[in-house]
Amino acid sequence: MESTAGQSLTLDDIAHRYAGSLAVDHVTLEVGAGELVALLGPSGCGKTTLLRIIAGFIAQTSGKVVIGGKRIDDLPPARRNIGIVFQNYALFPHMTVAENVGYGLAARGTDRNATKKRTTEMLDMVQLGHLADRLTKQLSGGQQQRVALARALAIEPRVLLLDEPFSALDKSLRLDMQIEIKRIQRAAGTTAIIVTHDQEEALGMADRVAVLSQGKLEQFAPPSEVYDTPATYFVNQFVGTANVLPGKLESIEGDRATVLLDDGTRLSTRVPASPSGVSAPGIGSKVVACIRPENMRLSDRPLGAIEGVVELGMPLGATIVHEIRTRSGLRLKLTEPRTPGTLPRPSGTQVLVEPASPSSVTVFAAP
Ligand SMILES: Nc1ncnc2c1ncn2[C@@H]1O[C@H](COP(=O)(O)OP(=O)(O)O)[C@@H](O)[C@H]1O
Ligand SMILES: [Mg+2]
Repeated sequence: MESTAGQSLTLDDIAHRYAGSLAVDHVTLEVGAGELVALLGPSGCGKTTLLRIIAGFIAQTSGKVVIGGKRIDDLPPARRNIGIVFQNYALFPHMTVAENVGYGLAARGTDRNATKKRTTEMLDMVQLGHLADRLTKQLSGGQQQRVALARALAIEPRVLLLDEPFSALDKSLRLDMQIEIKRIQRAAGTTAIIVTHDQEEALGMADRVAVLSQGKLEQFAPPSEVYDTPATYFVNQFVGTANVLPGKLESIEGDRATVLLDDGTRLSTRVPASPSGVSAPGIGSKVVACIRPENMRLSDRPLGAIEGVVELGMPLGATIVHEIRTRSGLRLKLTEPRTPGTLPRPSGTQVLVEPASPSSVTVFAAP
């Protein structure tokens, strides 16, 4: 059999319109061979539509899909050599595990010995060799999902597509399956796209994350970059937690800006983000300074610090979370690592809080 190594996938300016509404809004994405990319975004942002376009189940309104350097838009789904794992597995209940896994090969006219050999390899890979002769309806959810994965990989797909593959699994099994799929994808060298609305799943599994909102690509970057330097206010709000402090952009010097917050505090920040196609906010314009809870700390110097009162302190074992109400009435969250014996500040304590560093403060035009 040919090598299982995946191929590169390019989405070139893909748009898709369902009667009247634009579900995919000119998305361009280049996925490297063997890369695992997560499509992350809220329900309805166009993730499934994009996968169905790649698989060939729907024809895009405009744009190109290119795999391994060749345009595939004229190929029917069965000839695209793409493996697909859906959220509800879609296994054949009246077939055994082995018959399910071998189905795609048999349908392609692969001879019986080769099909059997490949099926055994795939079942060993997902550690289900001992259940080859069971009917799939007699398996647990996690086992069924592994059969679905083995079936998708059996045909040696050029690209593997996974649409919310874990949403029917309970939480503890999810993490096991995330690790397992990543391990198998690595081992097989398959190019993979996983669709999810779960930011932890996307950040944890993917080499790069593509964040979508209302059909538009907001950011395409490695997980740590998406988390540390969100490109847009939407990404800032959708991925992780952030405190949002309204103010005015006062000045920009090199890679630092100064924001005058509404409560009178001056913060040194990153320069405002300028998402592609949108101009960055100008001096004097209304902005929001965004800081993650773990990037805020208690301070003892008043300059550049925000005055507030502890509303609630929670000792969470490894961390302490304080909720602080500022003079202007904002509620901020602050997370610190906790050392043994440390207690939260009592409610009512006057405190000063500040960003850990200017580079941990991202600035966007006021939404
Ligand atoms: N067959 C369809 N006909 C009309 N509108 C659709 C159809 N499928 C999806 N949509 C709409 O397109 C948008 C994107 O849907 P979808 O790709 O399923 O999003 P996601 O998978 O991110 O939840 C949504 O507004 C949805 O209502
Ligand atoms: Mg969907």
